[in-house]
Amino acid sequence: FQPQRLAGRRVLVTAGPTFEAIDPIRGVTNHSSGKMGFAVARAAREAGADVVLVAGPVHLPTPRGVRRIDVQSARQMLAACEAEADDADIFVATAAVADWRPAAPSDHKIKKDGSGRAPVLAFTENPDILLALAQGARARSGALFCVGFAAESHDLAAHAQAKRARKGIPLLVGNIGPLTFGQDDNEMMLVDAQGVQPLPRAPKLVLARQLIAEIARRMGAGG
Ligand code: C5P
Repeated sequence: FQPQRLAGRRVLVTAGPTFEAIDPIRGVTNHSSGKMGFAVARAAREAGADVVLVAGPVHLPTPRGVRRIDVQSARQMLAACEAEADDADIFVATAAVADWRPAAPSDHKIKKDGSGRAPVLAFTENPDILLALAQGARARSGALFCVGFAAESHDLAAHAQAKRARKGIPLLVGNIGPLTFGQDDNEMMLVDAQGVQPLPRAPKLVLARQLIAEIARRMGAGG
């Protein structure tokens, strides 16, 4: 690991889940401890980058030297990322963003009405933050190196490759979702246009450092 390979670069990272309100008391969310994204932010900082970490609700300390923006919902996460994206050279999307949110959250607590009937919630689709930033950068002819993550339960390599192509990004990291949630270790594969490169199971910080070194190498080679 060569330190300072990202000196002078700006790295934007999303981490953790999002929380989508049903009412002021309740909401829907995803499994995500935020550990992988916080490890990526720490590794990028160690490599000398200026790092902004946009975090959903997690219980983790901010890595030293990293600027952190806390958000709750996918739309807040998108707004924070859009505000930072113009200045960024690298975007690493590790957040487990809720795909849908309640369409009409109540501004007061929904009460049981004694009828025994449960409320029926309508959902609406959330913005895809990674897609929006990748497309925005392309539209501006900007050079934002975008990296996605994909947690899958089966057929990881095929799903990850399809996802990378759909989002139009150079690099995607695949992992088997349910095995990694909340764990300190992870087993990942790097997926790019050339194919799939598995990385041996290791602590998330070790993998994050490998990922950052890989990004630095690709950017050094002209992206
Ligand atoms: O399409 P899917 O959600 O499986 O893609 C996962 C990747 O896209 C992750 O990098 C995740 O952070 C990002 N993503 C996002 N906004 C969404 C959904 C996913 O940034 N609404």
